[in-house]
Amino acid sequence: MPQPVVFVARRIPEVAFRLIAEHADVRLHAAVLPPTRAELFDGVKGCAGVLSLLSDRMDAEVFDAAGPQLKVVSNFAVGYNNIDVAEARRRGISVGNTPGVLTEATADIAVALLLAAARRLPEGWKAVKELEWKTWEPLGWMGLELAGKTLGIVGLGRIGSAVAQRLHGGWGMKVLYTARSAKPDFDQKFGARHVRLDELLRKSDFISLHVPLTDETRKLISAPEFALMKRTAILINTARGEVLDQVALHEALSANRIFAAGLDVCEPEPLSSDSPLRELANCLIVPHIGSATITARDAMADRSARNLIAGILGQPLPYAV
Ligand code: NAP
Ligand code: GLV
Repeated sequence: MPQPVVFVARRIPEVAFRLIAEHADVRLHAAVLPPTRAELFDGVKGCAGVLSLLSDRMDAEVFDAAGPQLKVVSNFAVGYNNIDVAEARRRGISVGNTPGVLTEATADIAVALLLAAARRLPEGWKAVKELEWKTWEPLGWMGLELAGKTLGIVGLGRIGSAVAQRLHGGWGMKVLYTARSAKPDFDQKFGARHVRLDELLRKSDFISLHVPLTDETRKLISAPEFALMKRTAILINTARGEVLDQVALHEALSANRIFAAGLDVCEPEPLSSDSPLRELANCLIVPHIGSATITARDAMADRSARNLIAGILGQPLPYAV
């Protein structure tokens, strides 16, 4: 009997293909860039499953293009704002993601961005590269210390907690956080406090965003929120670019309304060539590399392949959204 066909939207670590091959034939979009909408419609046609990336919008049009035999969409990411989950559910299509296995990697990037922004590493490196480093400067490249400061975590879930643990344990930071619900165990263990967003923004020295992108969190941090922050605040975003209003961010950074920002995510991705954020010395941007470790990406490949296989076999997904 012929195997079902699945569409895999990009090359991902090999472990996924070894697992999938036992159950399905792979139609691979092997290009570096994401499939265009036309390529996506074409690729998914007749497929029982799709292994999508966070840059692939999976909505009713794609489900229609696939056809009624589509059983599962397995995202190679923990965030799933690219998928119309309600529409998938309505059609009986299972949706999976890869929670947990990229928590440590992403928390590391948030801390790396914070350290780099606080100590102005990109400016220092630029000075070295461009031969602007003339001497040991007593007033040069002065940044901020981390020890004992107040950390505000917006969205204390898996990654937010891992960032808080690092910065509380390593630098003795006090932790404030928002989440939909309080986390009494976490509060007890880390002396943390569940507060309203406005209090967090007013009191935190460093603010790190970890909410999923939803209708409620879109542009959660806009001009009124920047106005509440300390002038010495550093804002880190490893969640999704759309959680921030980038125009308001640019205004806050260029007016030194806040000290600096470190972004792993932006809107759009990649950042547009004319984005004024590129020109700012106090804005460090890296290309959405939160989960880019070998360990995390292999585990994401494993989980997304297992979700895909369970879906095409009509079984419950091990990591269902
Ligand atoms: P998670 O464990 O589900 O944590 C999300 C947290 O956000 C939860 O604490 C949740 O509160 C809170 N939250 C949700 N809606 C909220 C709202 N409206 N207001 C305040 N808090 C809200 O997810 P995770 O694994 O930590 O991942 C978080 C996000 O990071 C992902 O959705 C993804 O977008 C992003 N991410 C980025 C990278 C990267 O490469 N940069 C890698 C992985 C993930 P409750 O706990 O009370 O429900
Ligand atoms: C990465 O951004 C993810 O959501 O896994």
